[in-house]
Amino acid sequence: MPTRYFKYKTLDDIRKDVARLGLDITFEEKLTAIAQPVTIGTRTIGNALGIHPMEGCDGTLDGAPDELTFRRWRRFGQGGAKLIWGEATAVTEEGRANPRQLFLTEKRLPEFEKLLRGARTAHREMFSRDDDLLIGLQLTHSGRYSYRAPVIAYHHPQADRLTFLDKGKGIHLTEDYPVVSDDALEKLEDAFVEAAVLAAKAGFDFIDIKQCHTYLLNELLGARIRRGKYGGSFENRTRLIRNILGKIKNELGEKIMLASRINVFDSIPFEADPQTHAAAPMPFSIPYEYSFGVDKSNPLKEDLTEPLALVTLLRQHGVRLVNVSMGSPYYNMHYGRPFERRPDDGYETVEHPLIGVARHFRLTETIQNANPDLAVVGTGYSWLQKFFVNAGESNVRRRRVSIVAAGRGAIAYPDFARDALTNGELKSSSVCLAVSYCTDLMRSKNNELGQYATGCVPRDDEVYAPLYKEVLKKKKFTADEKVKTASQK
Ligand SMILES: Cc1cc2nc3c(=O)[nH]c(=O)nc-3n(C[C@H](O)[C@H](O)[C@H](O)COP(=O)(O)O)c2cc1C
Repeated sequence: MPTRYFKYKTLDDIRKDVARLGLDITFEEKLTAIAQPVTIGTRTIGNALGIHPMEGCDGTLDGAPDELTFRRWRRFGQGGAKLIWGEATAVTEEGRANPRQLFLTEKRLPEFEKLLRGARTAHREMFSRDDDLLIGLQLTHSGRYSYRAPVIAYHHPQADRLTFLDKGKGIHLTEDYPVVSDDALEKLEDAFVEAAVLAAKAGFDFIDIKQCHTYLLNELLGARIRRGKYGGSFENRTRLIRNILGKIKNELGEKIMLASRINVFDSIPFEADPQTHAAAPMPFSIPYEYSFGVDKSNPLKEDLTEPLALVTLLRQHGVRLVNVSMGSPYYNMHYGRPFERRPDDGYETVEHPLIGVARHFRLTETIQNANPDLAVVGTGYSWLQKFFVNAGESNVRRRRVSIVAAGRGAIAYPDFARDALTNGELKSSSVCLAVSYCTDLMRSKNNELGQYATGCVPRDDEVYAPLYKEVLKKKKFTADEKVKTASQK
């Protein structure tokens, strides 16, 4: 039986566990600081609550938002958080993570405008104003997780073994797999600029050049062993992001705000025992020359020297909003999203989820402390269930973060900000339970579209429970077939 971690009824219960584990997570009962406006560049948002990018994998096959995408954005608009960080949107077809990932093109612009309008209108209808609401879009290339074929910045010895050309057959990347060329990266700079121009045309307030979760631009930040102008030195590894930001600035000036979601700590890949689902870091040697934000003498520990330098550089290139994240959703998911129940493709958590939450808070605080006048968005709150706003309140009061945002917590409970600010607390019956069904749906590919839509199975059950049931039925069918075939042999 997997361990149950979240057993807290009151703030004092959770405080006791935090003290027992010796962590720096503090809570405030009265929610006042998160209700205050926050300045971001030249704009001011109405409160310090935000919604992280949350892909629904529910676009059309050619990359436009579809029915469920519109629905999610409307729900986010109605919810009351004043920062809505739109989800991963590919800048090229080959960089899409799945066949239903959004992909911003001129042809699809009207649908993106409609998506934005839907969220803004819903917000205005609920709160009578939307001039203090900021909505952005995350622009991305999925790199080694592109669904058509992996695009890698360099050969990462551990990640390569977990990057599959054919997962079913267990065929992973080998040393002769080509690394993306400098020419291709240079072309990609222009693809980001084109998408930024379209996002500005659609009316988004900001664009995020995504550098997190081990996708292409994040991988490039750790490409110390890559040769050529995009690898090796810190200057080379940041060439792509600098060029993208510089070109966007040339093209758009102040027409759109620049933002970036960054990994401040990649750590290293973990591998699970297929029977017990217990995980351990994959074997590695020292000094560790791979990944970003890691201590070379112990890559399980962060070294924020380069991430801090990255933030300085981003600011010099006009970035006004930074969202701090860490880890990889594919190979060390406990860092990015502390969880209660493991996803089917994952492992039992290797640490108490509170340790993961505390790590998020601590690393974000380091970035915020070094940049007190920068709008910094914090991650890793959802596992705290109804107490996440109390922790956020304390973090804002302590200036450990500027904006407190929820990812899974927002698809479970899009109205969390409204409830927190009007009732002073969240409803236990609506919060995210961190049970990973959203990830399970996201990883399910065996329907006619090659991808299931994802959302919150327990809390948004009318839409997503039937999808999840279908996935389970198919899995059981496949398992039964395997047993049948094996017994016939
Ligand atoms: C279903 C799902 C979709 C996600 N989509 C994105 C995305 O599009 N872009 C991104 O940067 N992170 C994405 N994430 C990560 C979340 O934004 C967030 O960082 C993570 O869930 C941890 O925050 P939380 O504890 O508030 O959920 C996704 C996570 C899940 C579970």
